[in-house]
Amino acid sequence: MPLRFLTAGESHGPALTVIVEGLPADIAIDRAVIDRDLRRRMGGHGRGGRMKIENDRVEILGGVRFGRSLGSPISLLIRNLDFENWAEAMSPEGERPDDEQARVVTRPRPGHADLAGSLKYGTHDARDILERASARETAARTAAGSLARCFLTAAGIEVTSHTVSVGDGVAASLSDGDFDRLLAMPDDAPMRCLDESATAAMIAAVEAARNDKDSVGGVFEVLARGVPPGLGSHAQWDRRLSARLGGAMMSIQAVKAASIGDGVEGGSRRGSLHHDPILYDPDERRFYRPTNRAGGIEGGITNGEMIRVRGFLKPLSTLPRPLPSVDLIDKQAFDAVQERTDTIPIVAAGVVGEAMVCLVLADALLEKVGGDSLTETLRNLNAYRDALSSY
Ligand SMILES: Cc1cc2nc3c(=O)[nH]c(=O)nc-3n(C[C@H](O)[C@H](O)[C@H](O)COP(=O)(O)O)c2cc1C
Repeated sequence: MPLRFLTAGESHGPALTVIVEGLPADIAIDRAVIDRDLRRRMGGHGRGGRMKIENDRVEILGGVRFGRSLGSPISLLIRNLDFENWAEAMSPEGERPDDEQARVVTRPRPGHADLAGSLKYGTHDARDILERASARETAARTAAGSLARCFLTAAGIEVTSHTVSVGDGVAASLSDGDFDRLLAMPDDAPMRCLDESATAAMIAAVEAARNDKDSVGGVFEVLARGVPPGLGSHAQWDRRLSARLGGAMMSIQAVKAASIGDGVEGGSRRGSLHHDPILYDPDERRFYRPTNRAGGIEGGITNGEMIRVRGFLKPLSTLPRPLPSVDLIDKQAFDAVQERTDTIPIVAAGVVGEAMVCLVLADALLEKVGGDSLTETLRNLNAYRDALSSY
């Protein structure tokens, strides 16, 4: 993998950090681009109280000089403003205080990492687990994805997302021109959906779930435009771009299924109605498709059409009206713990999905054309594009 990254940090610890290694030198790194993505991740209808406390901003600690990447590892930090309310319970140093001050959790939530993680790591305080399992971690991933976005932008690749459904509110299919409308959509749009009546139905589904002290699931889609044909490979299972995008999507907390293009619908369609005919434009000297049910990938390789990847978000597991659970210490039946929670973070999940798609595409682009500096990468990419047009 030419591009790799690691995040660290707990939900209520002092900060989140991420190190991104492998981006070429001389990419314009604009802190405002990262902060904008961080702000977008905090928004959307269905978020809970935590995001009212945080005001995520990135601090760049290494790998960038005078606004340009150096080619060395880039180190980013995002402080948790809520840490001041958790300084005792989440202190990295000192003796463990009593259980109340440590905000011990012994009643695991069905559907969260609490029980499985406590058994695995041998703790009877599920806070040791949930603090890292929490999707607060995705703030660091979003920041890493913004760096990849800065690189992709220079290579002419754009990435955006929209909400496909929440509960029984389902958006109409996108049509030509919708990508630009999504790019132009205000960052504070409540559902990041172009379909107004579906947006109203989604908001109603959130409100109904919230009033019932429940959560609700949803689906988001990430789109990438300008991706050249030939990223990924059919030659080995772990080089297939569909697998890499699917894995990246499934790595997002609460995403329980992923699909490429019309992958789910294809499971019940005839082939003649599913595959995209191949056409050729002699003026532009390129192959193209009148439809894009394949979602821009065939045989694990990009085919030059728009990439379409969906993530299916399960209903969140922290329920204001908790499900039955069993205490980790005395094994008695209780209702699960109640932590502060979102009803559905669907817009945020789409932004995190964008970040993961940016990271996978940046990695696949570097694998294809390489380059230690942006100039070298773009020279190689342009030579490859030229070769395609004389194919
Ligand atoms: C942006 C985002 C925000 C989330 N917020 C919450 C939340 O407030 N409450 C909750 O129970 N789960 C939330 N989750 C999901 C949990 O982090 C996730 O369900 C949990 O870590 C268990 O992992 P799993 O669902 O992938 O098995 C969120 C997920 C995302 C992507």
